[in-house]
Amino acid sequence: MLEMRGITKRFPGVLANDDVTLDVRAGEVHALLGENGAGKSTLMKILFGLYRPEEGEVLLDGQPLAIDSPAAAIQAGIGMIHQHFMLVPTLTVTENVALGLKEAGRKTDLTVVADRIRELADEFGLQVDPDAYLWQLAVGERQRVEILKALYRDARLLVLDEPTAVLTPREVDDFFVTLRKLADDGRGLIFISHKLHEVLALSDRITVLRHGRITGQTTPAETSREQLAEMMVGREVRLAPDKPEVNTSDVRLRVSDLQVLGDRGTHAVDGVDLEVRGGEIVGVAGVSGNGQRELAEAIAGLRAVSTGSVHLDDGEITDLPPKAARDAGLAYVPEERMRDGAIGEFSVTENLMLIDHASEEFADRGFLKLGALRTRAEDLVERFAVKTPSIETSTRSLSGGNIQKLIMARELSCDPAVLVVAQPTRGVDIGAAEYIHERLVAQREAGTAILVISEDLDEVLGLADRVAVMFEGRIAAILDRDEATVERLGLLMAGA
Ligand SMILES: Nc1ncnc2c1ncn2[C@@H]1O[C@H](COP(=O)(O)OP(=O)(O)O)[C@@H](O)[C@H]1O
Ligand SMILES: [Mg+2]
Repeated sequence: MLEMRGITKRFPGVLANDDVTLDVRAGEVHALLGENGAGKSTLMKILFGLYRPEEGEVLLDGQPLAIDSPAAAIQAGIGMIHQHFMLVPTLTVTENVALGLKEAGRKTDLTVVADRIRELADEFGLQVDPDAYLWQLAVGERQRVEILKALYRDARLLVLDEPTAVLTPREVDDFFVTLRKLADDGRGLIFISHKLHEVLALSDRITVLRHGRITGQTTPAETSREQLAEMMVGREVRLAPDKPEVNTSDVRLRVSDLQVLGDRGTHAVDGVDLEVRGGEIVGVAGVSGNGQRELAEAIAGLRAVSTGSVHLDDGEITDLPPKAARDAGLAYVPEERMRDGAIGEFSVTENLMLIDHASEEFADRGFLKLGALRTRAEDLVERFAVKTPSIETSTRSLSGGNIQKLIMARELSCDPAVLVVAQPTRGVDIGAAEYIHERLVAQREAGTAILVISEDLDEVLGLADRVAVMFEGRIAAILDRDEATVERLGLLMAGA
């Protein structure tokens, strides 16, 4: 139904789309796969009339399409579910769906709209209360409203830009059922993602983009995660790190009967016991909001402990200020990297020295030894493959993956006794993720006790020796790696 032929789009200094040709059939889910910056959103924004390409044409049902605005795209039957929702929080679901509708100059009858919303919601499993205000809805529900809005306008071609980024694993399953129904009903769907397992589970055909160019077109039956990763990155990628056998040593991190208040004043962590041995990676799986973040922050001394204790080797670090916990041998890589992990305005060198600027090696009677700091920064940037124009570059301008590598470099350079890492590769390209995983496994071999908190089950299963599942502030179960499967973890994460 849709053909995009020879699309080329330049931004200053970037060839965002380079002679891209894509066809989408009615009744199929067509995945557009690629790393951050590959040009996926740009291609879809061209389709939706938000950008004008320098070259190429778009055909819908064989007819050349001159789309110069989103209104024209909607008119042509194209619906777009953006990465960032475009809904009005102070309006109801019905009002949001009705917004912008012009029915022959008459005022739209909202009860008619609400009835139609209920019909569509029932048909496709997009449950939402038409009278609810948008601000009252969870992100997953807001996304359903976006889809309902497109369906209400009879979209025959639906574009979903990274729709699963805001969903929990449980919600993703239901969401995929909905998408399949929409395709079976005769619509064409373009599903944008950088997650290999999703693309393989859902799509009929897959187009891979890298640096603006198509690097592969295939189907789930004909390809594999490894092949797709190679098309995305342009080289072979190890998706799960090689993990040698390691003899674990004594318990280096011990969390006992820990209770921690969350931001809403309730017990976000509600009686957690956990031990991690040297040479061991314990993964913490769970749907976000079940206390994982507060657990990590409490261990790192960034959040007060209500009751219970945290021990590192033979010492107690409960409620120690972050600096003292660090001196005791704790390293921490936070989830909110730009908020808690690095200072955007600071240079790469400055961010690398944040934790040990007062040590003798780098300071002499209050004066920084700039030469030594620079040498070390250059060494870390090289060893951790941080892509930066120079060590003087301001950290804000690096990509998410490179900022994460920078923080990892800093935290691992002190060879910690215990390392707590939250979402080590969220928003990180698979090439950089592969590297971060290798570093974690190397640190495990060096005898560090590592706690990895992640919502990505593939990551948890790839790294962990044991997996703890958190649910409603408690550890629902701790499984040995051999007993842990995606299905079993999924059930435990849902409170089963
Ligand atoms: N409005 C814009 N102005 C300048 N450069 C842009 C703009 N939008 C995207 N780019 C650049 O184009 C490339 C492709 O971006 P994008 O299409 O957003 O990638 P993806 O959606 O695959 O992550 C990137 O290098 C990005 O920085
Ligand atoms: Mg994008």
